[in-house]
Amino acid sequence: MALLELWNVEAGYGRIQILHKVSLHVEAREVVSVIGPNGAGKSTTFKVIMGFIDHLGGDIRFDGTNILGSRPDQILARGLGYVPQGRIVFNQMTVRENLEMGGYVQRDREKLRESMEYVFSLFPRLAERQKQLAGTMSGGEQQMLAMGRALMTRPRMLMLDEPSLGLSPRFVDEVFDKIAALAREELTIMLVEQNAARSLEISDRGYVLELGRNRYEGSGHELLHNDEVRRMYLGG
Ligand SMILES: Nc1ncnc2c1ncn2[C@@H]1O[C@H](COP(=O)(O)OP(=O)(O)OP(=O)(O)O)[C@@H](O)[C@H]1O
Ligand SMILES: [Mg+2]
Repeated sequence: MALLELWNVEAGYGRIQILHKVSLHVEAREVVSVIGPNGAGKSTTFKVIMGFIDHLGGDIRFDGTNILGSRPDQILARGLGYVPQGRIVFNQMTVRENLEMGGYVQRDREKLRESMEYVFSLFPRLAERQKQLAGTMSGGEQQMLAMGRALMTRPRMLMLDEPSLGLSPRFVDEVFDKIAALAREELTIMLVEQNAARSLEISDRGYVLELGRNRYEGSGHELLHNDEVRRMYLGG
C-alpha cells in the first residue's frame, strides 16, 4: 500500500481550476520527483495535499487514511512534513526559535530536545548558528533551516517544494546531499525541483505535470533517458 496516494485530484483557487484529475502515489521509503514547467500545478499539488486549499474532487490518502478535508496541523501530526517554496523562515527569530516553532506540536520537553538534537546532527551549521537571527542568514542557510524546522515533528514523509531554487552552486550541492542523506535514513520524500535532471538522478520515480495534468511517469532513470522528456523538460 502506498504511503501517499492521490487519485483524480481536482483543485484550484476560487473558481479557477488548476489540477485536473491528478493521480500519483509515493511508496514508503521512496524518493519521488514531480517536475514540469512553471505554472504546471506542482506547488498547488502540495498545497492541496497539506489542506491549505480546497479540493473539487478526487481522493487523497496518507498512510491509509483519507486526509481530504483535514487541517494542515492535523496532517502534520499524522507524519507528513512540508517545506514550502521560497525558504520561508521567521526572520526576526533566532535559528533555535525557528526550530522550536517547527516542533510546537510536541508538548513533551524531552522529545522536543531529542528532535532538536536530531536536526542539529543533520545540519551542524544550524547548531553553530543557534542564536543568529534567521533573517541574517544566507539563502542556503535559510533553506537548511526551513528543512530542519519541518523535520522537528519527525515526519515519516517530507515534501520539499523547490529547495534549491535561487541558491548558489555550493548550496545547491548541499541541498541535494542533504536530501540524499535523508533518503538513506529511510525518510519518504516527494520533491519538486526546477533542477529536474538532478532531482530525477536521486529519485526512484518521477511524474511530469503539465497544465495541471499528468503527462509522464516512470522511474527516475526512464524519465532521464526519455527523449521527449529530455527535450521538453530537461533542456535537451
Ligand atoms: N493563490 C493563488 N491564486 C490564484 N491562482 C494561483 C494561486 N497560486 C497559484 N495560482 C495559479 O495556479 C497555477 C499553478 O501554480 P503553481 O504554483 O501550482 O505552479 P508550479 O508548477 O508550482 O509553478 P512554478 O514552477 O512556477 O513554481 C498557475 O497558473 C498560478 O498562477
Ligand atoms: Mg511551484
